[in-house]
Amino acid sequence: MSNLVEIAKKILLDNRRSGYTLPTNNKLYPAQWNWDSAFISLGYSYFNIDYAIEELETLLEGQWDDGMVPHILFHDEDDTYFPNHTTWSCGKEIPSSGITQPPIAASILSIIVKNNQLNEIQNRKVFNLVCKLKKYHEWFFKNRDKNQSGLISIIHPWESGYDNSPLWDYALSKVTIEKNLSYERRDLEVSNNDERPLNKDYDCYITLLNQFKTVNYNPNKLLNKSMFNIIDIGFNSIFLKANKDLLELLKLFKLDYLDFEEMINKTEDNIFDLYNEKENMFFSFDLKNNVQIKIPSLTNFFILFADLKNNDMNTKIIKNLEEFNIDEKYFFTTIKPDHHSFEEKRYWRGPIWINTNWIIYKSLINKNRSFAQKIKKQTIQLINQNGFHEYYSSKTGLPFGANNFSWSAALYLDFMLGIN
Ligand code: GLC
Repeated sequence: MSNLVEIAKKILLDNRRSGYTLPTNNKLYPAQWNWDSAFISLGYSYFNIDYAIEELETLLEGQWDDGMVPHILFHDEDDTYFPNHTTWSCGKEIPSSGITQPPIAASILSIIVKNNQLNEIQNRKVFNLVCKLKKYHEWFFKNRDKNQSGLISIIHPWESGYDNSPLWDYALSKVTIEKNLSYERRDLEVSNNDERPLNKDYDCYITLLNQFKTVNYNPNKLLNKSMFNIIDIGFNSIFLKANKDLLELLKLFKLDYLDFEEMINKTEDNIFDLYNEKENMFFSFDLKNNVQIKIPSLTNFFILFADLKNNDMNTKIIKNLEEFNIDEKYFFTTIKPDHHSFEEKRYWRGPIWINTNWIIYKSLINKNRSFAQKIKKQTIQLINQNGFHEYYSSKTGLPFGANNFSWSAALYLDFMLGIN
């Protein structure tokens, strides 16, 4: 077995705290993050199934009464992070942020259940997880589907998981920054300035957060009041796939699933409204400013992850994906390199991320196996050469951001040991 497989396992174990795992071992992210935890759980499933289940249990322990699962849970009240539990001040038993993140957990759980023979205790735990995930997904339909179209919207860039993507530039330019806004960034103390979001973006992030606090995170008010409200195609694709996977889990555990079938069909029909014929691409839609967001982002291709029944459409989109990174030494960049917003080093504005490669890889496995294998090979090679970092340059493969990054390690384990 490759030495790096052992190193990947060790990274997860070293980053593990009581029942959950930090995204990295440095001070950049000293808490539990929603979609990080889901990816991490998949990693554990290859060597410690109980840790895999516990990771999700701890995440879902932070679920709010209304069903929302926060994007961050602050199990340890750490004052070195900004914005931490006191800034969010949500008043929950497990201190948390007041927004969510891409709901990929059901898809991850479904892979784990398919790949493993669970004993009775583990099965009971998974049953509880499925019940909580059902409530989480219902929360989206109830609170984030403004037009009752089966398409849900996000209210903060952090909800997307790709925080400072150029996708949000226009929408953020319309946000009125709070007067006398004052806060202290802590991320720049532990990472390079030119790899992190700009201060002008942070001003928007914190203005939005402060606004949410004034309505006490009431979901109804948030949806109507937020100065940022977007139907993100990446987020919706992950959600559609997660609903399909959850549906299977509901059936498996003999839980009520009819509403889910209906919602999936509705989403699957209406998601085509986001298709732009001329560009042969699905684009996100800015509900606040009433415009389509025509930015060539890798996350637009997450539509392939949703496994649309329309094969002709899938084939057309894959054609486009094949041209996304033709001149790059390594792929996939988060933004198409010939776009003016592309930056080689800055966080979600260009670099390669292991989780986005993984999502695209999983999307293609049942549609274009050779392309999927090419992505797998290249991602493994990137890690073999440069280690388990947060993100990488598409020009040189050089790593940026945090080292010993948990989801890079976890997804490496899936690439190397997963049944595909
Ligand atoms: C950053 C990323 C987000 C991730 C978090 C923890 O905020 O943008 O996607 O979940 O860090 O790794």
